[in-house]
Amino acid sequence: MRLPTPPLPKALRRTPPRPGSRPSRNGARANGAVQDLRPGSRDGRRPPSKGGSQIDRQRLKEQATEVPISLAGWLDERSGASPFMRGFMYRKVPRGTNWFYTLGSATMFAFLSQAVTGVFLAMYYNPAPADAYESISNITNEVFLGEFVRGLHRWGATVMVILIFLHMARTFFFGAYKYPRELNWVIGVVLLVLTLAMALTGYLLPFDQRGFWATVVAVNINASGPILGPYLADFLRGGAEFNAITLSRFYSIHMLLIPGLIAVLIGAHLYLVAKLGTTAPPWLKAEKAKELSREEI
Ligand code: HEM
Repeated sequence: MRLPTPPLPKALRRTPPRPGSRPSRNGARANGAVQDLRPGSRDGRRPPSKGGSQIDRQRLKEQATEVPISLAGWLDERSGASPFMRGFMYRKVPRGTNWFYTLGSATMFAFLSQAVTGVFLAMYYNPAPADAYESISNITNEVFLGEFVRGLHRWGATVMVILIFLHMARTFFFGAYKYPRELNWVIGVVLLVLTLAMALTGYLLPFDQRGFWATVVAVNINASGPILGPYLADFLRGGAEFNAITLSRFYSIHMLLIPGLIAVLIGAHLYLVAKLGTTAPPWLKAEKAKELSREEI
């Protein structure tokens, strides 16, 4: 059965022309008045009277509001975006959907905020061991709004880690990891590891005592892992020892490799959410199949 097409949002609907705003072919207006086309009259290009200029302003305003609508229509006709967007925005969600279902979107918002603030920090940050600390002090003390943007990025990292754990807990306790959503759970686990790796690689970047020694400890813990541990530690350090390469390596992993992977995986994660729908809360009982009516038999 085909579902009825949901209505277009109000902002995208064309406003019908006001009665009398369009001249008719015989010069008559919708209210029956006839256009004055004599030389020197308003329609014969006489300077508009006070009332006339108000009508002109009204018409200009209406035309101006039509511009974004026409532009959206132009794009939509060529991209075919609106059937997809309508299906996505108006998709059905299970009864009982509640605030806990917003934790995934909140995590995504935290990621986007990290991406935006990170771009501005990267404009001033210098990943050379001799300059890194200095460039961070410069961001904090000299750059316009630098301390604010750095604070957003620092606190945003903590917020993202907390939100991702809360989101994971929600999907776990609602049983959303079960068939057919196992793949989405696995993608989520990779996203969790990448988010933690993002936090670890970012901690070294200010190149202060705390960041440096915390990273030494974390990399040494990695090195103690079985089989792959020593290789992973060598890869992270860029050799057997911490050196100048380590900082630029952490920087490129932090600002290019991991965010790129996270963006691609969030795309796949959301695709699966849209395709499979979300899981109903566990306290809802499945509805009993209704009796088939005589007509349906
Ligand atoms: C960057 C990290 C992540 C983002 C941006 C993200 C985003 C989302 C969004 C927007 C949804 C839709 C509904 C909802 O919010 O509950 C969702 C659903 C889901 N997520 Fe995530 N997620 C992330 C990490 C994770 C992690 C770490 C796991 C688990 C290990 C996970 C597992 C799931 C599952 C199983 C669903 C389906 C939920 C259902 O069917 O009800 N996600 N995610």
